[in-house]
Amino acid sequence: MIDINTHPIFKVISTKAAESGVRAFVIGGYVRDWFLHRESNDVDVVVEGSGIALAQAVAAELHTKVTVFKNFGTAMLKYKGVEVEFVGARKESYNRNSRNPIVEDGTLEEDQLRRDFTINALAFSLQKEDYGTLVDPFGGIADMAQKIIRTPLDPDTTYSDDPLRMLRAVRFATQLGFDIVPESIESMRRMRERLDILSKERIAEELSKILLSKVPSRGFYLLDECNLLDKVLPEIAALKGVETVNGRGHKDNFAHTLQVLDNVAAESGDLWLRWSALLHDIGKPVTKKWDDKIGWTFHNHDFIGGKMVPGIFSRLKMPLNEKMKYVQKMVSLHLRPIALVTDEVTDSAVRRLLFDAGDDVDDLMVLCKADITSKNEMKVETFRRNYDRVKEKIVEVEEKDRIRNFKNPITGEVVMQRYNIEPGNIIGEIKEVIKNAILDGVIPNEFEAAYALMEKVAAEKGLK
Ligand code: CTP
Repeated sequence: MIDINTHPIFKVISTKAAESGVRAFVIGGYVRDWFLHRESNDVDVVVEGSGIALAQAVAAELHTKVTVFKNFGTAMLKYKGVEVEFVGARKESYNRNSRNPIVEDGTLEEDQLRRDFTINALAFSLQKEDYGTLVDPFGGIADMAQKIIRTPLDPDTTYSDDPLRMLRAVRFATQLGFDIVPESIESMRRMRERLDILSKERIAEELSKILLSKVPSRGFYLLDECNLLDKVLPEIAALKGVETVNGRGHKDNFAHTLQVLDNVAAESGDLWLRWSALLHDIGKPVTKKWDDKIGWTFHNHDFIGGKMVPGIFSRLKMPLNEKMKYVQKMVSLHLRPIALVTDEVTDSAVRRLLFDAGDDVDDLMVLCKADITSKNEMKVETFRRNYDRVKEKIVEVEEKDRIRNFKNPITGEVVMQRYNIEPGNIIGEIKEVIKNAILDGVIPNEFEAAYALMEKVAAEKGLK
């Protein structure tokens, strides 16, 4: 852990600040994490004066590089494993229609006041006379002991100044296992519309941080409690509630989804698998139907849900890349292993699953296992028995047939050369028959067998 008493950079900052006649303090996340015993390599230093000038003086002394962000009035340098950002103490007021503040120079106290939470407004002095002394004007340490998230100012002011803080409150509460004080929650309910001025990227970043927490469900319950969920993820808010027909209700898909998310989080730290868990049932509200014979149905919700994924990613300005395709695939395929688990496990069904899931089949199995949240002991028991069988079968079939990274043994080239034909639909048709024959176990996944089948199919299509 980086310690201001032992890491050499802090004494240099202290000396250089004294030489320039300014006061400097370590502030914010580093101080909070110091008391919470959390590892932190990013240190913020606030200066009653120019942050850039002090950073340059420190960098010159240490013969290290400094990066200046003139527009923000900040400068950053790296030294022996720490990254220090220097900023001048500020007094801020905000324009209602933007997150960009009107900034004036200020004192430490004024700077602390404009920060988001009491636990983030703590500072350590770097002055020689009281080096390392904690400056805690708003009771941040007491709030930490009580495990509460509270704003230094009236919450309406803090959240209106920068609405991202509403999501940060939820995120910190989730990461740290803290509660948000009731007046803050009430304020967020009032301020929800202010989320509209935020950039979507910042929203997505906070959502991802919530998802990466140990028990991510907490964050989504909190977002709901603060009336923010439908603003940031309406598709998840739509999962809430239970409808009843003739006394029969379906399960609450919101609670179910969050249980699945926590189950996945207990097994995997992968952000995108966690996104997949969060989104796996988003197709349910739009596909929900009551059937007098069967009861509630959600036919095709896997497929429809998968189709909804790109829209959510693009709305949140998350890149439409391989990760998005992965989430889409997980959502679309999430019922497939379950179907295998409940039905009889045939080799061809396993081959089809391996073909469709490819290298993501193990992740899909984690999601599948997490998706069983039934209170019915019998169902769970049957599932557990079959789940292990499916897993074994996947390994067995893969060893035998190598379907995960399936490549048709017969390429278009082979077909064209053998029959001396130009590219055309017929080639695809022949290859499709071969692929299906392999997946169905009619022929082995080998060149010779595939070639023989090609000859047969081609002959039927009149090729010589
Ligand atoms: N801060 C703030 N309002 C924000 C963002 C940040 O008041 N919307 C202040 C807080 O004092 C915070 C500090 O700036 O501690 C640094 O912010 P940042 O680096 O975003 O967060 P950390 O608190 O360091 O925590 P994390 O690294 O987990 O995001």
